[in-house]
Amino acid sequence: MNKIVIEDLSLQYSDGTESLRGVSLGIRQNAVTVLFGPAGGGKSTLLRCLNRLNDLTEVKASSGKILIDGENILDPKVDVIALRRKVGMVFARPVVLPLSIRENLTYGLELAGERRRVKLDEAVERSLRLAALYEEVKDRLDDPAIALSGGQQQRLCLARSLVLQPEVILLDEPTSGLDPISTGKVESALQELKQDYTIILVPHSIQQAARTADFAAFFLQGELIEFGEGKSLFTTPKEKRTEDYITGRFG
Ligand SMILES: Nc1ncnc2c1ncn2[C@@H]1O[C@H](COP(=O)(O)OP(=O)(O)OP(=O)(O)O)[C@@H](O)[C@H]1O
Ligand SMILES: [Mg+2]
Repeated sequence: MNKIVIEDLSLQYSDGTESLRGVSLGIRQNAVTVLFGPAGGGKSTLLRCLNRLNDLTEVKASSGKILIDGENILDPKVDVIALRRKVGMVFARPVVLPLSIRENLTYGLELAGERRRVKLDEAVERSLRLAALYEEVKDRLDDPAIALSGGQQQRLCLARSLVLQPEVILLDEPTSGLDPISTGKVESALQELKQDYTIILVPHSIQQAARTADFAAFFLQGELIEFGEGKSLFTTPKEKRTEDYITGRFG
């Protein structure tokens, strides 16, 4: 089932850059969909549209629709705070708060009014388990988060995005700068998470795209060139431009 349906989405920044051009795409529930392609293709721009982070940037014009559970989230009447709770995001560089590991996770919940210790403890454990970090940090939850390794900080950020129980998780190159072991842990966490969530990943390499994608979308200069099941797209792409990129002939 498609959780998200993108219909003829175009976006132009105020400097005139056309970053998305007539993109139409269905995003399946309980699957990992990767958006890949060379720099400047519009991948991050599309991710930011999905939780309306582009509201904060210089957008000159946009058109088209993004339906999440049938509701057009680009409608100005949409409650953006509620949308961002439903559609969580993890960025390339982990930004942990200068607080303890536990507080990094409870902060958002406390802001949302949760004060019950039991509920907070439950949420901390659940989100750390989902992000495949629990075993590594369970005995030092009150230590500063900043003392964690880069790979652990990235999984803490993933856990933080899960604490508010989103339905969709957007990840923009979440493993860039991580060693292969940490990268592997994040990738396997995603494979677990997809049982319950809809995951959209901009991978940091074609290899990662091929390893993780249930579905894959290839973007070139704002256009969706090809979309399909990961397995077939990475082995037998239909478009010459996709094939050239995958085999390293450009980009
Ligand atoms: N805030 C902005 N203002 C103006 N132009 C922007 C802005 N953000 C992105 N762009 C432009 O939009 C185009 C798409 O950028 P985007 O960051 O979405 O690409 P990307 O596919 O994520 O690239 P990368 O692989 O380098 O992260 C580029 O030409 C970029 O210069
Ligand atoms: Mg990007």
